[in-house]
Amino acid sequence: MSLQRSLLSFGGLLVVLLCGLTASMQPSLAGGDEDPLLQKSRVLTEAFAGRLQLALQSALREGGPVAAVAVCKDIAPQIASELSRHSGARVRRISVRYRNPGNAPEPWEKTVLEAFERNSSDAGDEQAPEFFAGGDAETSARYLKGIRTGSVCLVCHGTSITEDVEAILQAEYPFDRARDYELNDLRGAFSVTWPDQGDAPPAKSAAH
Ligand code: HEC
Repeated sequence: MSLQRSLLSFGGLLVVLLCGLTASMQPSLAGGDEDPLLQKSRVLTEAFAGRLQLALQSALREGGPVAAVAVCKDIAPQIASELSRHSGARVRRISVRYRNPGNAPEPWEKTVLEAFERNSSDAGDEQAPEFFAGGDAETSARYLKGIRTGSVCLVCHGTSITEDVEAILQAEYPFDRARDYELNDLRGAFSVTWPDQGDAPPAKSAAH
């Protein structure tokens, strides 16, 4: 395989870390042996990102940043739970420096996020890193897609936050750690966890 890849060891399990190290890496993944859950995870993540971005942009346009805080607070978890319900996977956003403690990473997510950070070049690696580990009867298939900050994100996650936004953030998130990001920093990741095959419902009940 010409694909550049690093192998991480998770409790004896070898998984492939796809770190967006080079622009040429992702296309080379599109081989016929690609796991269908990898493709589904990508579709879910794109849907999540797209819907959130639209909601955020229109809230910013119509009500300004203070109103847009509600989109991040209410709409983001709502989109995540809708996508989870429809797909059967657990879909969410996570960050090591989270604003909402409910978005704290699990140990495996933290390990991958830290590897993303280590492999990100300081010179502005534009591509969001990606990780996938296929599952089996005992292990869940898992996917993470890094999220980088664009300029719009800095309104609420940057180094100079206006007083009105600051006031609402302090009221809603007294333990906020999601500050002081700069353009193109790794803000966190979309996370998709599939049930392991041992958890899958039997075929006949799935038909109803
Ligand atoms: C209007 C303010 C605002 C803007 C703009 C904004 N965010 Fe957030 N962000 C929030 C709030 C509030 C939360 C906490 C949401 C929750 O309670 O789940 C959050 C949470 C997150 C999380 C989940 C992890 C955590 O810290 O809890 C990620 C990832 C994230 N934002 C990324 C982004 C990115 C990337 C952008 C730019 C595209 C962005 N945000 C723009 C306010 C904002």
